[in-house]
Amino acid sequence: MERINIHQNTRLFTLIDKLEQEHSLTPSEYEYLITCRCKEAAEILAEKAVSLRQQIYGNSVYIRGLIEISNICRNDCLYCGIRRSNQNCERYRLTAEQILECCEEGYYLGFRTFVLQGGEDAFFTDEVICGILSKIKKQYPDCAVTLSLGERSRDSYQRLFDAGADRYLLRHETADYEHYQKLHPPEMSFRRRMECLQELRATGYQTGCGFMVGSPYQTAAELAEDLKFIEDFQPEMCGIGPFIPHKDTPFCNMAAGDVELTCYLLSIIRLIHPPVLLPATTALGTIDPDGREKGILSGANVVMPNLSPVSVRKKYELYNNKICTGDESAQCKSLLAKKMESIGYEIVTDRGDIKNQIEKTSHPE
Ligand code: 5AD
Repeated sequence: MERINIHQNTRLFTLIDKLEQEHSLTPSEYEYLITCRCKEAAEILAEKAVSLRQQIYGNSVYIRGLIEISNICRNDCLYCGIRRSNQNCERYRLTAEQILECCEEGYYLGFRTFVLQGGEDAFFTDEVICGILSKIKKQYPDCAVTLSLGERSRDSYQRLFDAGADRYLLRHETADYEHYQKLHPPEMSFRRRMECLQELRATGYQTGCGFMVGSPYQTAAELAEDLKFIEDFQPEMCGIGPFIPHKDTPFCNMAAGDVELTCYLLSIIRLIHPPVLLPATTALGTIDPDGREKGILSGANVVMPNLSPVSVRKKYELYNNKICTGDESAQCKSLLAKKMESIGYEIVTDRGDIKNQIEKTSHPE
């Protein structure tokens, strides 16, 4: 028994070293890393991830102001609280003016990236979004705008890019075809999702993918496929957070994802693609009050405080008990800064684009 353990651990730590050196493993090696996860491996991975992030980004933590523009959605994803079948969801949509007011407040608070996120709401045609984008870009030329508005046509992605959008987040949700079908209604297509990511990349966006940790029916082999996909796709951003059940969805009785596994995967993703912009997500902060700090200490380097009007925040409920009015809100940036300082990090006010170079340490004369 003991010999098997020693043997397993040797393999585990050899794989961690291999990942650090080559930024790549085979799917079965990723799977092994996940199934044989232990505290010691998590600590070593986090240490390596933090040191790599440090070399590229120093102690900087980037902030993004998240504006939830609409919870109206034509999709019916089985896990999501704003799915169209949820009759209990009180729907809202922000006006262009409201969105611009959020940006105004955000700019004042020190945000230089605005993330416009919403359900797939037909009201937000290219024309409407382009109008909003050009206003934001005109008023705040020093800011980046990230869109997170789901699947659109290649043409649409191009128009929004031409109107000034810099980045686009579209989680792939799972890199496994069969698992994708278990999480989505039949009319949604895994192939189209993956195509969208390729089109976003080809259009010129800094592109973000991502997935939920512990989503229903997820296996270690599927998580390994997610990691392999990230290795191949090399996204500029990658959003991962624990699955959290929502009471008005078919997955209401499913177990929530695990904080430690999420942090473990954050470290692995940092090792796979060192310059990736990796948020410590709201979902991570929701299942654990120290989740965001734990995420940063595992290799994440982005936080996305909520900048939506307070009146709608509770309505953008993707999962139950989503934190939104506490210290994760944009208005509490100074508290967030203090928390980050207490663990050795600094919130910075700049666009926070991806860096591909190791930071040069300045040598004061
Ligand atoms: N738990 C955790 N994350 C969720 N998302 C949607 N529903 C849930 C849930 N129940 C995530 C999806 C989506 C992102 C906006 O939020 O990954 O892409």
